[in-house]
Amino acid sequence: MKFSIYICSGNNRNMKVFHSKKELNQELSLIKDDGGSIGFVPTMGALHKGHISLVDESKKVTSTTVASIFVNPTQFNDKGDLDNYPRNLKMDLEKLEAAGCNIVFVPSEREMYPETDKRVFDFGDLATVMEGAHRPGHFNGVGQVVSKLFDIVQPHKAFFGQKDFQQVAIIRKLTEIMNTPVEVIACPIMREPHGLAMSSRNERLTKEQRENAAHIFKTLTEFSNKPADLDVESLKKNVIKKINQNEYLEVEYFDIVDKDSLMSVKNWKESENIYGCIAVFCGQVRLIDNIKFNL
Ligand code: PAJ
Repeated sequence: MKFSIYICSGNNRNMKVFHSKKELNQELSLIKDDGGSIGFVPTMGALHKGHISLVDESKKVTSTTVASIFVNPTQFNDKGDLDNYPRNLKMDLEKLEAAGCNIVFVPSEREMYPETDKRVFDFGDLATVMEGAHRPGHFNGVGQVVSKLFDIVQPHKAFFGQKDFQQVAIIRKLTEIMNTPVEVIACPIMREPHGLAMSSRNERLTKEQRENAAHIFKTLTEFSNKPADLDVESLKKNVIKKINQNEYLEVEYFDIVDKDSLMSVKNWKESENIYGCIAVFCGQVRLIDNIKFNL
C-alpha cells in the first residue's frame, strides 16, 4: 500500500497517516528543514492510555509527534501470541488523533521487511535474563524493528514505557550500537484503577481474570515498601508464593535486579535502584510488571 490518508476531525486537528517510508520521509524532511523537533512513539497498536501517555509526553517536549503502529512478527517467539495479538487500526487512529498526535506511520510487513532481516544484535547480558531467557529471540526482533524505525523516522527523542522495563535497557543499548543520537525517554507505567498495568493483552482477559490480575501489583506494592525486613531470596519466594496462592495466577519468573545492569542482586545494599520484575500467566495471557523497591 503506497498511499497516504488524511483524517480531518471535527475539532480541526489534522493527523496524517503514512504507509510508505518514502512519503513519511518527505513529510519529516520538510518539518526538520523548518527546525522542528521530532518525538517518536513506536507501538504495536491496540492502543490504551499507557500508549497515549507516551504521546502526551512527546507533545510536551517536541514540536511534532510521530507514532508508529506495526505488529512486528520478528519479536514474537510464539506464533499463537502473534496470531492472537489484538488489532484495531480504526480505533487506534481515532485515539491518536484525539491525543493530538501529528503523524502516524502504519507500514505493511513488506514495507518493513522487504527481505528477511538476518541481523543479530549483541545486547550482552541485557538480553539473556528475564524476558530474554523466557522469550528467546524476542529482543533481537525488537532491535531489528526499532533500528529500522529509528532509521526511517530519525527522531530527536523516542518515548518508551517503563512497563517494558527490560526493553528500555535494550533500546538504550541499541542506540549505542547504532551510534544514533536519539534520546531515549522512559515514561511511567499507566495502570487500571485497581492497579493492573495497562497492556494490549489485558483485552484478552475475562472480567474475573482481570479483577484477579490486580493481585500482582497489590503484592508487589506490599513487598516493595519495607523490603529490608527480609533478605532478597526470602522476599522473592514470598512474592511468588503469595501471587501463586491466587488460583487465576501463575508466576513464570520474579527477579530482583539492578536497574541498569539488569543483573540479580543478592542483597539490598548492592544498588540504589533495585527493581522487582515479574511475568505471570493469567490463563493463557502472559502479563509483565515491575516495581521499584523503596530502600
Ligand atoms: P507495545 O507493546 O505496543 O508498546 C508500545 C509502547 O507503549 C512501549 O514503549 C511500552 O512500554 C509502552 N506501554 C505499554 N503499556 C504501557 C503502560 N501501561 N504504561 C506506560 N507505557 C506502556 O513495546 C512494544 O509495543 C514493541 O516492542 C515496540 C517497541 C513497538 C517494537 O515493536
